[in-house]
Order: sequence, then C-alpha cells, then structure tokens
Amino acid sequence: MDLLIRRARPSDKRDVLSAVRTVWGGQDRIPDVFDGWVTHRTGPFFVAESGGRLVGMGKLTVTSRTEAWLEGGRVAPRWRRRGVATALIAHRIAYARDRGFRVLRFSTASDNTPIHRAAKHFGFKRIGVLSRRAAAAKPGASTLRASGVQARAVVRRVGPLLQLGHGWEWREITSRDVRSAIARSRVLVSDKAVGAAAVLGDPYDGTLMVAAVGGRPGPLADLLRALRSEASRRGLADVSLFVSSSHERQAARSAGYRRPWSGEVYLFEKRFRVL
Ligand SMILES: CC(C)(COP(=O)(O)OP(=O)(O)OC[C@H]1O[C@@H](n2cnc3c(N)ncnc32)[C@H](O)[C@@H]1OP(=O)(O)O)[C@@H](O)C(=O)NCCC(=O)NCCS
Repeated sequence: MDLLIRRARPSDKRDVLSAVRTVWGGQDRIPDVFDGWVTHRTGPFFVAESGGRLVGMGKLTVTSRTEAWLEGGRVAPRWRRRGVATALIAHRIAYARDRGFRVLRFSTASDNTPIHRAAKHFGFKRIGVLSRRAAAAKPGASTLRASGVQARAVVRRVGPLLQLGHGWEWREITSRDVRSAIARSRVLVSDKAVGAAAVLGDPYDGTLMVAAVGGRPGPLADLLRALRSEASRRGLADVSLFVSSSHERQAARSAGYRRPWSGEVYLFEKRFRVL
C-alpha cells in the first residue's frame, strides 16, 4: 500500500473529522483538539494519505526535553488492518529518535488489541497497568499539606510518573514539579514522616484530580480518606485517581473508593539508547 505521511494542515480538518466520525460511538476527542494540534505547537500531528485520500493520523506530543508521548492514533474504518497505524507509529518512533528524545510512551485501553500488537512489534515494554478509582466528597478531618523539606520524600512516595491534565497522559515527575506543587499547596501527606503523599492536579468538571499518589498501605488509606474531605472542603463533588498495585487497590477500597469503569489503562514505554 502506498502511504505518504506528512504534517496535518488546517485544510485537512474535514477529512480528519470524517475519518473519526464513528470512533467511540461518535465521542472521539479529535474534533475538539484538531485546531490546537494542527498548529504543531505541542509536537507534530501527522496524517497518512493513500492515493490522495486521508486514511489515518497520529500525534507526537513533547512532554519534556527528553520524553515524548504518542496519542491520537486513528485509522479510517475502511482502511484498517492494512498496516496504516503501524506505519504511523514507525514514523513517529523515527522522528523521536532523530530528535534525541530518550523515551517514548503511550497509553491505551486494556482491550485495544491492535495497539498492544503494534507495541510489541516495536519493542515497547508495558510499564504499568492503571485502574481508575473515584469516591464522593465527604466532610472529615483537615488534611496535612507538605512543606518544602518533605519534597524528596514526596517524590519517592508518588514517583515515577505524573498524570498530565485529565486524560490518559503521563510523564516522569521531577523534584521541581513537586517543589512547585508544594508552593501552590497542592501536595498532601498522611503524616510528618510522609508515609503517603498525593500531588493534586487542576480540578476537572467538579472533580478533585490526583495527578500522582503513593505510599505505605496504612498511611495511604488514611490519605485517600483525607482527599475526600479535601474535595468536600473545596466544594467539589468527588475525587479521581489511578491505582497501579494491589496494595493501592486495597487502600482505595478501604477508603471507600469504587471503580467507575471496569477496564484498565496500559502504559507502554520505549527507551532509546543514547549513543
Ligand atoms: C487501533 C487502530 C488505530 C489500528 O489501526 P490499523 O491501521 O488497523 O492497525 P494495523 O493495520 O497497523 O495493525 C496493527 C496490528 O493490530 C492487528 N489488528 C488490527 N486490527 C485488529 C483487530 N480488529 N483485531 C485484532 N488485531 C488487529 C494487526 O494485524 C497488526 O498486528 P500485527 O502487526 O501483529 O500483524 C484502528 O483500529 C483505529 O483507528 N481504532 C479506533 C481508534 C483507536 O482505538 N485508536 C487507538 C487509541 S490508543
């Protein structure tokens, strides 16, 4: 199949929207993000053409100086299973490698078989299985804010990844992220010894978003309860976070969190060798 991969242009909008019209029952986010993505400001947005028709797309988002993120992989229904998604991934891997990124990551649903196969094909490693948890706000004791001297302990507890925004996007957390979150009162801890810690993101749609969380089982369960009272104090409806290990799942359960969605998010990573 002859394929041309090039940067998207504003004039591609109609074809892009038509290619994704049926994706996720018409609920795809591409129509909402197209205008921003086509500026290429956060990283290149590519489209694939065959015989002059737009058949697929894929974005590479720059998440830090050394990390890049793949998202927005879509192939028009009639053009699937012919290697278009694979070609778009190969193109972005080459792009990331050529520009000296150290690591490339992406996330996908646990049931997205084509993407798992493509990940394997290109030597991505599955580095996380994340599952969402949510709990209603509930009045309770006030929470403990972290102070600057606790920054290193917080990074150790919540690392290695930080969720960006409210989507399925992560990058490495740095001590600078934590210090600036502490300065904005966005880091909560279970106790002075930092048995558990949470970094808050921007609230989204009435929800307290937790961008990174972790800790020992007991303190973590206490902190997750405290997050529900934090949401209540801020007038938010609930708390949302991702758990990634059995002790985190158990802490969430004991703090009254439930699973709003039965699927899981797989996080894949490919590291490039520095020459
Ligand atoms: C996922 C999607 C991008 C795949 O595009 P595609 O061009 O059909 O994928 P490819 O032809 O490159 O196939 C990739 C691999 O998946 C396999 N595959 C493709 N469709 C499949 C299906 N429906 N079931 C099982 N395997 C499938 C291919 O055989 C290939 O595996 P291989 O390399 O081991 O042979 C496309 O189905 C799509 O747009 N889906 C809706 C949006 C979506 O899920 N995007 C990804 C979000 S992370």
